[in-house]
Amino acid sequence: MFQKPPKKSLNITLKTPEEIEKMRVAGRLAAEVLRMIEPHVGEGVTTEELDRICHDYIVDVQGAIPAPLNYRGFPKSICTSVNQVVCHGVPGPKTLKKGDVLNIDITVIKDGYHGDTSRMFAVGAPPIAAQRVSRVAYECLCVGIRMVRPGIRLGDIGHAIQKHAEAQHCSVVREYCGHGIGRDFHEDPQVLHYGKPGDGVELKPGMTFTIEPMINAGKRHVKLLPDGWTVVTKDHSLSAQWEHTVLVTETGYEILTLLPDQSL
Ligand code: MF3
Ligand code: CO
Ligand code: CO
Repeated sequence: MFQKPPKKSLNITLKTPEEIEKMRVAGRLAAEVLRMIEPHVGEGVTTEELDRICHDYIVDVQGAIPAPLNYRGFPKSICTSVNQVVCHGVPGPKTLKKGDVLNIDITVIKDGYHGDTSRMFAVGAPPIAAQRVSRVAYECLCVGIRMVRPGIRLGDIGHAIQKHAEAQHCSVVREYCGHGIGRDFHEDPQVLHYGKPGDGVELKPGMTFTIEPMINAGKRHVKLLPDGWTVVTKDHSLSAQWEHTVLVTETGYEILTLLPDQSL
């Protein structure tokens, strides 16, 4: 989500066991949408067809709400970010072609709680450069998630993600970040994917937030297109993103958007 200026006091909600159970359900539903859509991603399909399939599945099969639809005026139910699109790509009539890579970002609301997850897909065999930035973005997500436990600070996580990306000669987008999540789509705190060790909020059991590094193959700078949503790399380099919703437990973390047969 869009990074906002720092505030004096944050409103970080610690979820109760009952809320955590609802977050587990919402997270699982979001993950199931990503699994459902996978076989539909292919040459010749339009991103608005993918949007319609996800919308109908979320509403008719899951009995849930697609959170992006009408969120701050967003016109569709999912985000589809193709190639040099960093995030918030708006599904439209353009068809996917062989060699395209895209992020599909799913957020559902079930029983008042949000689950938010995204991953990269490839249409046919992706170019090596696209494989590479997608792999680095995934590794950045893993590096961040594996650090989550009570007592660690968000700056520690951001720093580790940034170090990994830059060691791989990629860059971290600064203008968009992860976020607390629960009853609201975007809650405090902001989860930056760069930073300094020891800075920022200290994690406590019951916090729920996303980690969703946006990693560019080229420079980190981005540009907002005139539609007011689509964010692209300024240098037209490829960009990749993976996202999970995570719970801080007493001893570490639980990934709320992993299915039982999936692992990091
Ligand atoms: N799902 C995105 C995120 O990870 C937010 C999309 S906001 C929308 O935070 F309005 F573009 F849908
Ligand atoms: Co998302
Ligand atoms: Co998110």
